Amino acid sequence: MDAIEMLLTRSSNNKLCAPAPQGEVLDNILNAGLRAPDHANLSPFKFIVCQNAGLDKLSNIFKQAAEKEGKTEAEMEKATKAPYRAPMVIVGICQYTEHEKVPRVEQIATTACAIQNMQMAAFAQDFNGIWRTGGFAHSQSVRDAFNLQKEDEIVGFLYLGTTETETFIKRQKSQQEHVDFWR
Ligand SMILES: Cc1cc2nc3c(=O)[nH]c(=O)nc-3n(C[C@H](O)[C@H](O)[C@H](O)COP(=O)(O)O)c2cc1C
Repeated sequence: MDAIEMLLTRSSNNKLCAPAPQGEVLDNILNAGLRAPDHANLSPFKFIVCQNAGLDKLSNIFKQAAEKEGKTEAEMEKATKAPYRAPMVIVGICQYTEHEKVPRVEQIATTACAIQNMQMAAFAQDFNGIWRTGGFAHSQSVRDAFNLQKEDEIVGFLYLGTTETETFIKRQKSQQEHVDFWR
């Protein structure tokens, strides 16, 4: 797929089934993530690629978080099922390093770019997915399960797979509303 066509048509799809990206396709996705713009080359990102038993582990983490947070039975069931909405979930974590020129927000931005790059690389190779956060990304119990330090952040859970339905390409947003030209 042409790069401009990809950037102008990119859209998420949350109806995902097996197979997950694998082999060279998955390699390309991860390497695209590692290509994210990165001030001072700090490489703040860490990706955890969950499949099969990895999804069970993630499901357990969400379930325990829901239990600890006193959620209802229905909420607990939803939490437990959440990771199985795709055959692969990549957890995108920002591991913050103190640096005089690179504030935390920039390190989170780098990790966010990495997640976007990975979703785009999946889309360009005929897979797709959706970037999710939800309460789990900020839950202390989930943070503890990933051994996050105080300033670290779960920036996203990138759900990836094969699309079950044709991806709906949304209307182009208007430049008039969102762009000012100073010239
Ligand atoms: C940081 C971030 C967190 C998000 N969290 C969620 C989420 O928890 N659940 C969800 O349905 N969509 C979430 N989204 C939005 C979807 O990833 C997606 O962008 C949205 O559905 C719009 O679709 P589009 O990407 O095709 O424009 C999040 C997006 C970002 C950038």
